[in-house]
Order: sequence, then C-alpha cells, then structure tokens
Amino acid sequence: MNRREFITGAAAAGVVLASGKVYAGEDKSEPMRLNSKDNPTELEQKHVPLIEAPDKAKAGQWIDVKVKVGFMKDHPSTPEHWITYVKLLADDKEIAKAEYPVGGIVSSSAVFKIKLDKTVKLEVVEHCNLHGTWISESVKVDVS
Ligand SMILES: [Fe+2]
Repeated sequence: MNRREFITGAAAAGVVLASGKVYAGEDKSEPMRLNSKDNPTELEQKHVPLIEAPDKAKAGQWIDVKVKVGFMKDHPSTPEHWITYVKLLADDKEIAKAEYPVGGIVSSSAVFKIKLDKTVKLEVVEHCNLHGTWISESVKVDVS
C-alpha cells in the first residue's frame, strides 16, 4: 500500500464511522505484542499496528498520527474477519478511538489529529474479531 492508498482508506473510514453500525465487543485482556522484529509471525505481521507520527512537535500544534493494521501486511477486511476498533494511547491513557462497522467494509486504518502539551509515548491497540487484541510498538513524540 502506498501513501496515497493509505490516506484514501483512512479518509473513507472517517465517513463510514459517522453512521455505521459498530461492533460492540470489547476485549479486556492484555494485548498481544510483537515478539521478534526480526522474525514476526504471520499473525503479528497482520495484527501488530503501525504508527506514523512526527518525531517532534510544538506544544499545542496539531499533528497527524496515522495508524494501520498490521505493520507489515494489511489485515483482511471481510464479512467474517475484520478489525473492530483502533485506540490511540498517550502515556498508556486512551486519547482517541475509531470503531469499525461489522463486516469488514472499512479498511483498518485511521488518522488521528492530536495536539500535545508534553513529550509522550504513543501506542495503538487494535482488536480483531477472530484473533484478539494487539498493541503496537511505542513511538515517542518530543514536544517543545
Ligand atoms: Fe485477524
């Protein structure tokens, strides 16, 4: 997926989220993590989220945080198998969430526009209806 395709998919997600029926399930278990960057499993490649965020930002400046599932291969989006939500965490606290409608009609990507007042660690948690809850590697944004 190139940058243009990613952005187009993310924009489409925003439109559908406004009116779509969403999956109500919420997995409270500890999310699964990438075990080995050098040898990720097929499930990890398709489920560990990828975060694209600037390394630095000014306090109060809007920045785009782009998210896609997974970090190496696109997660399937089918009537039987789809991502139910993506949550953005800043220093372990949920600051934003995108929920996806039942049935996999929306690509599992999102763009969150956020502003920060201090340096933070960003992470993303996602939930797959078949394969459970996964967390990304952390990304630091230095805020000055
Ligand atoms: Fe899955």
